[in-house]
Amino acid sequence: MLVINPPIVIASGVGGFGEYMHFIPPEYVGAYTLKTITYKPKSGNPPPRMRAGEFYILNSIGLENPGIERFLKDVKKGEFNHLFEKVKVIASLGGESKDEYLKISERFSEISEKFEAVEFNFSCPNVEKGGLSIIENKQEWRDTLRLIRETLPNTFLIAKIGMEGIFVEKAVELIKTEGWDGVTLINTIRGLHMDAGRNYVVGGLSGPILKPIALRMIYEVRKHFEDIFIIASGGVYTAEDAKEYLDLGADAVAVGSALFKDPNVVEKIVKGLSDRITRE
Ligand SMILES: Cc1cc2nc3c(=O)[nH]c(=O)nc-3n(C[C@H](O)[C@H](O)[C@H](O)COP(=O)(O)O)c2cc1C
Repeated sequence: MLVINPPIVIASGVGGFGEYMHFIPPEYVGAYTLKTITYKPKSGNPPPRMRAGEFYILNSIGLENPGIERFLKDVKKGEFNHLFEKVKVIASLGGESKDEYLKISERFSEISEKFEAVEFNFSCPNVEKGGLSIIENKQEWRDTLRLIRETLPNTFLIAKIGMEGIFVEKAVELIKTEGWDGVTLINTIRGLHMDAGRNYVVGGLSGPILKPIALRMIYEVRKHFEDIFIIASGGVYTAEDAKEYLDLGADAVAVGSALFKDPNVVEKIVKGLSDRITRE
């Protein structure tokens, strides 16, 4: 059972490996999702990596990260102990193929008990292999889900999915059938930012533009499944945004792009939710 109280999570990628906890009192953070770690280290995509429009951010970071071996070493050395002491930490894992998802799960099993949950990123639109494409082959994805569950039998498993490649309610049916506990939805979706000179950047869209899409996905999933844990992600900038998701049945709400606009946004959102939060 995962309890996230207050029901606000730092979304994967925007808070790096815990740096944001230097800026916020821990009582405002229900859980902290780390940046996605992949089996092999990744240097990410070439610049430009970020563009902003009026209602969106477009990023093409490309899952830059040090890889699972370095992460294991750092966790074992105690580099994240300050974080574990302050907040519930959710790891985020990814890979380029079924084989890599399985290998990273095996490696992660050595440190899994330190984490509240693990979120598997099946939806990054900014990498050529893995990410979104893993769910294209339904049978292979299902096998991947089953084998990860077998490798991490006692871990709270969350699948992070987008809205491309498969209807979300069908994806959640597979996730549940294979014994997973939760779902984070949605990730960024594929977008293209064009400037006046017709130069363009492709990447993942995030920010306010995502909210009506993500709200619909939460609505569909909750309509079909009463008992899957849902972390909603997409354009949460205010307490009102968070309440919309919670009222549709999300168990917790992730804050992502809003952190770039206002580093105090999480505190403001949680204060705005005070009528809904029960303190032990
Ligand atoms: C700069 C940036 C980096 C991100 N990196 C990751 C990542 O490493 N793993 C992941 O699962 N999602 C990543 N995301 C997606 C966010 O976690 C979130 O799901 C998405 O941005 C939608 O929420 P938002 O509109 O609140 O930003 C990233 C988003 C941004 C803007």
